[in-house]
Amino acid sequence: MGKNTMTLTDNRTGKSFEYNIIDGTRGPSVVDIRSFYKDSGMFTFDPGYTSTASCESKITFIDGENSELRYRGIPIEDLAGKSSYLDVCYLLMNGNLPTPEQSKNFDLEIRHRSFLDEGILRLFDALPDHAHPMATMGAATMALATIYKDHLNPSNEDEFRVMRRRILAKMPTIAAMAYRNSIGVPMIYPDINRYFTENFLYMLRAYPGGKLKYLGNGHNDEIKQVEVDALDAILTLHADHEQNASTTTVRNVGSTEAHPYVSIASGIAALWGSAHGGANERVMEQLKLIGDVKNVPTYIAKAKDKNDPFRLMGFGHRVYKNRDPRAQELKKLQDKLREELHLDSHLLDIAAAVEKAALSDDYFVSRGLYPNIDFYSGVILTALKIPIEMFTPIFVIGRIPGWISQWTELKQDPTAKIARPRQLYTGK
Ligand code: SDX
Repeated sequence: MGKNTMTLTDNRTGKSFEYNIIDGTRGPSVVDIRSFYKDSGMFTFDPGYTSTASCESKITFIDGENSELRYRGIPIEDLAGKSSYLDVCYLLMNGNLPTPEQSKNFDLEIRHRSFLDEGILRLFDALPDHAHPMATMGAATMALATIYKDHLNPSNEDEFRVMRRRILAKMPTIAAMAYRNSIGVPMIYPDINRYFTENFLYMLRAYPGGKLKYLGNGHNDEIKQVEVDALDAILTLHADHEQNASTTTVRNVGSTEAHPYVSIASGIAALWGSAHGGANERVMEQLKLIGDVKNVPTYIAKAKDKNDPFRLMGFGHRVYKNRDPRAQELKKLQDKLREELHLDSHLLDIAAAVEKAALSDDYFVSRGLYPNIDFYSGVILTALKIPIEMFTPIFVIGRIPGWISQWTELKQDPTAKIARPRQLYTGK
């Protein structure tokens, strides 16, 4: 058996180059090719980074073959619905779950940091009616950099902790206010007597003056614990996911020494794409477009037709070529809530028919196209009376602890460099 190295040979010249193989604690090893261009005068070529590790990380582990997702080593199945979302945020940001004392203090701090500078609220007014909340959230998050110019020194952990907790606390407020502004309803300020997830539902639903009603359909429902628990589990399932497109964007912008909240705003921009977090909104539109179980075969055929740009939203994943463990957890949540939350059984029946048809079709199975997290979240969010344009904003709220932890890890990595890939030039 040879050394822990890999040799690459250029058969045009017979020249060989040897590179170290580095093993992680779990998952695939890497070939360290950092000197490859200096050695060979050539670049490696990997558009979309299908075979590229862009960094070393200790935060989240995914095993696509074994449907495994772990936050700081803890399987997602042991966290979703078992630890509060805020405790999971603490885990991702600090490396361990909080003690009861730490959990209480963290919750209290987040409640008090959930308010926005009045200047940000005036920004919302400047945007047109019916502006998509994702655009407003990106603008408002970018604008936070005009207010917060302190706590930016990554080598001062106490400072950095404030920077991380601030953005976590304010995102639900930004999201709820972005939505209310888009429908011309006065903003509701955070209520520090309510836990993170309940507070978001409150800010989304309450009438001015704080009286709780569902916007638009009038009956005066207090927020039910089952609703808070369902949304809390959904946020946990979205909290981090290794080096996905939006996290890579947050790291790339952070690598240029840009402000942390500007980096987060770039993550919001990347997540909005339909191939990424924007898929959850597209899934619901697609289920409504399919309209009836009898139409499912038509849409399955469209998804398989290479001449048809139609793709089955909520299916497929770059890493999970088997089941997405988060989708599994959401399916369990769906089954549990079907009665309690009066889930729309018509949409559920269509979703179940789509899943059944796809998973018995070789086109999907041979390509490892299984339902991903976005396929199931929409039906539950609909039952929570969350407007469809708030589906991706909820993904943003959930992903904040992941983005800001990955950003911090980059800033505290002494070997980190500015992200600057090269190209294969085929122009004139
Ligand atoms: C998220 O990376 C992450 O971790 C992301 C995420 C996170 O938590 O951050 O998990 C969140 O973004 C989940 C994915 C949500 N997106 C969708 O549901 C949109 C629909 N799915 C895709 O567009 C697609 O599957 C991707 C973008 C998710 C993955 O794309 P890949 O890995 O680049 O795969 P590919 O485009 O190369 O597809 C491989 C094959 C192709 O067919 P062939 O060329 O081999 O014949 O599968 C086909 C594709 O045409 N294919 C699909 C399909 N997805 C892939 N065909 C029909 N419907 C689909 N949904």
